[in-house]
Amino acid sequence: MTMNAPGGEAPPKLLVEGLCKRYGATTALDPTSLAVREGEFLTLLGPSGSGKTTLLQLICGLVDATEGRVVIDGRDQSRMPVHQRDIGLVFQHYALFPHLTVAENIAFPLKMRGRPSAEVAKRVDAALGMVHLGHLAARFPRELSGGQQQRVALARCFVYQPSIILMDEPLGALDKKLREHMQIEIKRLHRESGATIVYVTHDQEEALALSDRICLMNHARIEQLGSPREIYERPRTAFAADFIGISNIFRGTFATGASRIETPHGSFALPSDATPVGEGGALVVRPEHLRLGAADGGHVTGIVAEIVYAGSETRVIATLSEGATVTLRLQQGETVPELGQQIVAGWPRDKAVLVS
Ligand SMILES: Nc1ncnc2c1ncn2[C@@H]1O[C@H](COP(=O)(O)OP(=O)(O)OP(=O)(O)O)[C@@H](O)[C@H]1O
Ligand SMILES: [Mg+2]
Repeated sequence: MTMNAPGGEAPPKLLVEGLCKRYGATTALDPTSLAVREGEFLTLLGPSGSGKTTLLQLICGLVDATEGRVVIDGRDQSRMPVHQRDIGLVFQHYALFPHLTVAENIAFPLKMRGRPSAEVAKRVDAALGMVHLGHLAARFPRELSGGQQQRVALARCFVYQPSIILMDEPLGALDKKLREHMQIEIKRLHRESGATIVYVTHDQEEALALSDRICLMNHARIEQLGSPREIYERPRTAFAADFIGISNIFRGTFATGASRIETPHGSFALPSDATPVGEGGALVVRPEHLRLGAADGGHVTGIVAEIVYAGSETRVIATLSEGATVTLRLQQGETVPELGQQIVAGWPRDKAVLVS
């Protein structure tokens, strides 16, 4: 059996086997298999409608699968109702109880589970401390900012220590600055709790910042599953290269076994480890590997259309023929060309990646 658990020895915390969901003629999720190891932070990343929420809902049992199984700690839980699974949920629209204070909101899941009041008080205190909200325990949700409400929702989930936590775009409603702050909070909560987290976002930067592995989804199926570095450095498809980070993508044709790809922008060397199969594909070159001047991988000629100064680097966008553009990322100290100037930009052969 080929499973995706890194290391592969310990049984996965969460195993999804051939899980699939159809709504009439719509396939929300094609049969999907995936293993998440204990304590892992796995992010489902993908465009709108790619099946992320559906997969999360199937894992927690909010939605019944058309086919497939959900196995947690080695036990098939496919038929188990939501509240009996050892799973915590945090959604984008964190529905706090408006008539309960912050402390009462956080105590709620513990009281539901009939925990003694001394334990409830202790755990609520600890959870409040974890999200730095001790001073606001007596406030009502309407008296809090969006970020504070979101932290209450996180505390309410972490407080009863579920071993798996599912989060569906929990930071979607927050502005960029607060989102970045909360990402650090979530990372810390993950580290301190040791929980296994499956996190949904369509923000690639968020996915890169948080995840042990990213499960990239597209059209109701997994496009690529791997560490952020693997997906960034070794994308398997043009979609993956385009979705994560900035990419220069040159589509073209080749013969099976060839060493070059013929594109509208030139004939380029395929990287030495590429195995060209079929009639064509695309060459991906990340902006940091493009340099002014020709190189052994290939080069393109373009006109500088935009220069974006970003402190530690300068991004240069040049227009090629037929409206295509390339992006270069120049480091401090490198000569930056002028707007409207014609440039040649090349890359080392083995910095390019061949994708389908
Ligand atoms: N209850 C439903 N009935 C019919 N189709 C549905 C239902 N729920 C989801 N779908 C369809 O299934 C597909 C996947 O939806 P899903 O909500 O999983 O996407 P998503 O990746 O979470 O997207 P987003 O980023 O917009 O939240 C979409 O095409 C959606 O329209
Ligand atoms: Mg969704």
